[in-house]
Amino acid sequence: MNPAAVAPTSRVGELYTRLQGARARSEELFKIVRPAALYDRPIPERHRIIFYLGHLEAFDWNLLQEPLGLSSFDPDFDKLFSFGIDPVEGGLPTDQPEDWPSTDRVRDYNKRLRKELDAAILDGGAKDPSLARLEHGRLLEVAIEHRLMHAETLCYMLHQLPLDRKFSQPMAQPLPAPARGPSSVEIPAGTATLGLRRSQDGPFGWDNEFEEHRVEVPAFAIDTCNVTNRDFLRFVRDGGYERRTLWSDSGWEWITSQEHCYPSFWIPNGDSWCYRTMFVEISLPLDWPVYVSHDDASAYARWIGKELPSEAEWHRAACGTRSGVEHAYPWGAETPAARHGNFDFERWDPVPAGSYPEGVSEFGVADLVGNGWEWTRTPFAPFPGFQPFSFYPGYSANFFDGKHFVMKGGSPRTAACMLRRSFRNWFQPHYPYVYAKFRCVEH
Ligand SMILES: [Fe+2]
Repeated sequence: MNPAAVAPTSRVGELYTRLQGARARSEELFKIVRPAALYDRPIPERHRIIFYLGHLEAFDWNLLQEPLGLSSFDPDFDKLFSFGIDPVEGGLPTDQPEDWPSTDRVRDYNKRLRKELDAAILDGGAKDPSLARLEHGRLLEVAIEHRLMHAETLCYMLHQLPLDRKFSQPMAQPLPAPARGPSSVEIPAGTATLGLRRSQDGPFGWDNEFEEHRVEVPAFAIDTCNVTNRDFLRFVRDGGYERRTLWSDSGWEWITSQEHCYPSFWIPNGDSWCYRTMFVEISLPLDWPVYVSHDDASAYARWIGKELPSEAEWHRAACGTRSGVEHAYPWGAETPAARHGNFDFERWDPVPAGSYPEGVSEFGVADLVGNGWEWTRTPFAPFPGFQPFSFYPGYSANFFDGKHFVMKGGSPRTAACMLRRSFRNWFQPHYPYVYAKFRCVEH
């Protein structure tokens, strides 16, 4: 079926348009990679880049093929490109570039797969506008958000690729550092509503976002702005990475075994520091939020006599109000827009902390959504009433192991649709490549 024959306002038309938009996002990333670098592995714990070229399409195919009544034309590729990896016990992948198929073969697979998938989606939507076979469109939402999540995590990976292995892209103008207000604010005791209510025609959410529930949060004080590179430099200069008492057992083991002694985006330069942005090296931008691992953030918080916020405290600071009515976003109910924060692919890199006065929460806390995810001290675990997706049972459940921590908010490379307050992200505490920042709380 010709895509033009489907009304863009129909359910299938809207989802199909969003799928095309997500594909454009992922394609623009592969264009950054110089051809010779497609078989590089910029992050030791992850697959080579070539895997992701096939994975984004194979995932959609494995998810949608059966409900759409399609037959596999390359079962080997469907399997080869099915899942990414996240080793928790330190074992690293050992495959070699020659173990992977040529880019031409992968691109041919992708091309045929998309053609078959698109025709079946549009045809299925025309015959059954309710999209019942696709779980009323939910499977397409999974495909779209899965791809957009990879559009972000691929950026983490390409960020680590040497600059001469990628093609530079246009970059937005840097922003000047704003004047800073009070450094911390009191959040009164109150209720935080976490999660989403399960309903047939409610908004889309991943399995870990359900069920909606309320948490009573005692009063606490929270930093109004994120910890910056300037702040973190004081920690480094004060020997933060050499003080055993600031680190958890596993954190200490990690930093000593890896000789990790400064944030992974920093580059030592004699007595000073440089910083690796996505496409250039610059002097350390002191006013930008520092991007660090959960271990690094926790050690800093301990050093300063504070701690990271819990997931519920993030909700209170971001969405709570004095009246008790909770907002959808820190700035209110309005759909996320460029004036609210640094997200939705507007920039490749952070901006100075506190650059978006229109995105500040009612309690006066800046950048809770955008400019980098926010680490919390909450281990990633199911909400009461959790049910895994039948079509993707391991999406969250494989990570309920006490070895991953919840992040909230969003980064410069987080798509707007995933800035909803119920969205939960998670990573291992030592993983240093995430666009993740933090702030501290006191009780
Ligand atoms: Fe994936």
